[in-house]
Amino acid sequence: EQSVCILAVETSCDETSVAVVENGVRIRSNVVSSQIETHRRFGGVVPEIASRKHVESITWMIEEALQQAELTTDRLSAIAVTQGPGLVGALLVGIMAAKSLAYALELPLIAVHHIAGHIYANQLVQPIEYPAIALVVSGGHTELVYLEAPARFRIVGQTRDDAAGEAYDKVARALRLPYPGGPHIDKLAHEADVAQEMPRAWLEPDSYDFSFSGLKSAVLNTVNQAQMRGEALQSAQIARGFQESVIDVLVTKALRAVNEFSARQLLLAGGVAANRGLRAQLSERCAELGVPLIVPPLSLCTDNAAMIAAAAFLKWERRDFAELDLQAVPLLNL
Ligand code: KG4
Ligand code: ZN
Repeated sequence: EQSVCILAVETSCDETSVAVVENGVRIRSNVVSSQIETHRRFGGVVPEIASRKHVESITWMIEEALQQAELTTDRLSAIAVTQGPGLVGALLVGIMAAKSLAYALELPLIAVHHIAGHIYANQLVQPIEYPAIALVVSGGHTELVYLEAPARFRIVGQTRDDAAGEAYDKVARALRLPYPGGPHIDKLAHEADVAQEMPRAWLEPDSYDFSFSGLKSAVLNTVNQAQMRGEALQSAQIARGFQESVIDVLVTKALRAVNEFSARQLLLAGGVAANRGLRAQLSERCAELGVPLIVPPLSLCTDNAAMIAAAAFLKWERRDFAELDLQAVPLLNL
């Protein structure tokens, strides 16, 4: 029997990506073009520019992904694409490209939820064991997801304001660090001997939701007060205090979910998975509990199309296809 090769397109934010994945697990190609350099001088992603950049790259990237996969289009079984959540203009570019391909090649179209993609990036590393809990933390998302069985998942907690990575980027900006700020804060935090005291948003006792805007305000207040008093800014101590607060809440809630749902694995996904402190604390606490922590390589944690193809394979197995009038849904539910 011939293997199933799915070509996937991801354009939900500021990374254009096209990948070909075989049987949902083997990456034949995963071409990613980041727009970070373009957006850096604006201190964040500019939606209109993101859409235009996707348009410039998508066609050659599809060719490149096929070439690297050493496949001709007649070996493809389906075309997959991120339907949402994301920036509407950015999503549209990928959806248009995927629809055109599906139509021209007479292949089924598969619509994928971006968070499902982040979760199933783990499937490219090793088989997921159910039930599992996934912590998805990036510039756009902060979600705790309960995976009951393959393709059966539900969000048990999410951010009520800023995403974790977004908070990192805003705090970095206040400390005059470059965009994206996550890696800079991470590094600076490790240079401090002590942490500046920072609040933790636990919310209601049984809640798995997150909130980072209060923490962000606390940092901004500290920065402003230092400025008003003409004191030197203790950037490293602030970075450490901020980082400890974020990690404490993320790790505590993730482990509580692992316990409550009797998870057999904890899966980490999203760009913030690069954070050394977060990885260290999660693996320590998981080891204590005897629950394996799965962290994909960073190239699969940040936005990429291979994860979209991996998630699409589950829909392929159930012949869960989309129509050619598929629309982008910026606030798509999981
Ligand atoms: O998954 P990703 O590449 O894009 C989105 O879908 O958002 O995540 C990017 C986010 C940025 O906010 C960036 O600051 C953050 O991940 N990030 C980090 C680290 N590396 C990247 N945050 C904390 N610590 C890091 N080492
Ligand atoms: Zn993402």
